[in-house]
Amino acid sequence: MFRPKISASLMCADLGNIAAEIKKLEKAGVDYLHIDIMDGHFVPNFTFGPDLVKKIRGFSHLPLDIHLMIEHPEQYLDLWELKKRDILSFHIEANLHPQRVLAQIKTLGAKATIALNPATPLSTIQYLLPELDLVLLMTVNPGFAGQKWIPAVLDKVRELKTMIQKQNLKIEIEVDGNIGEHNLGLLKKAGANIFVGGSSSVFASPAYVKNTRQMRKPR
Ligand code: DX5
Ligand code: ZN
Repeated sequence: MFRPKISASLMCADLGNIAAEIKKLEKAGVDYLHIDIMDGHFVPNFTFGPDLVKKIRGFSHLPLDIHLMIEHPEQYLDLWELKKRDILSFHIEANLHPQRVLAQIKTLGAKATIALNPATPLSTIQYLLPELDLVLLMTVNPGFAGQKWIPAVLDKVRELKTMIQKQNLKIEIEVDGNIGEHNLGLLKKAGANIFVGGSSSVFASPAYVKNTRQMRKPR
């Protein structure tokens, strides 16, 4: 049976109590900790850095889903002490030699993932599909939590799913940005299987167990 995977976006957590928050997320049964890395250039904001990621690794057994929203991602691949089940994504808009970067991520042991902004067409990854473990489709323009999703991405999820199936590949589709009750069912039907839980879902209230269960509800 299809089981949606939930990746909890730590930038939506209570950052003053990050260790306790992560324990709560583990109890809630999320599949990944989604960690947004921003550089103030690729996106107009800053969040976490490698030292905090190392700390988080020290107190959680959950795999990390590291989302690089940075320029020159190829220069910063080995900062994260990647483990086998981790996801490391970089944006196609920020790199001209993606095959090289994907190969490096695989050598480091993580799932090689490309992220696309909402306006970036799927043709940018058409010739990359066989190198990919996962595609992260942004449903908002990245940089901030709490924005409204862009429904045009729904067609994009559907088209990507068709491209993957046509080539008989096993690539997971992750969606990120304002995921919640209003779009979960649609995105799931379109072909997404990993859902970033942020301010509209996992963190919508302090009841993380209930909120996570709600996201997995068959729909
Ligand atoms: C946006 C980030 C998302 C965001 C999700 O740039 O990549 O992970 O934190 O938060 P919500 O669900 O509130 O959009
Ligand atoms: Zn993200």
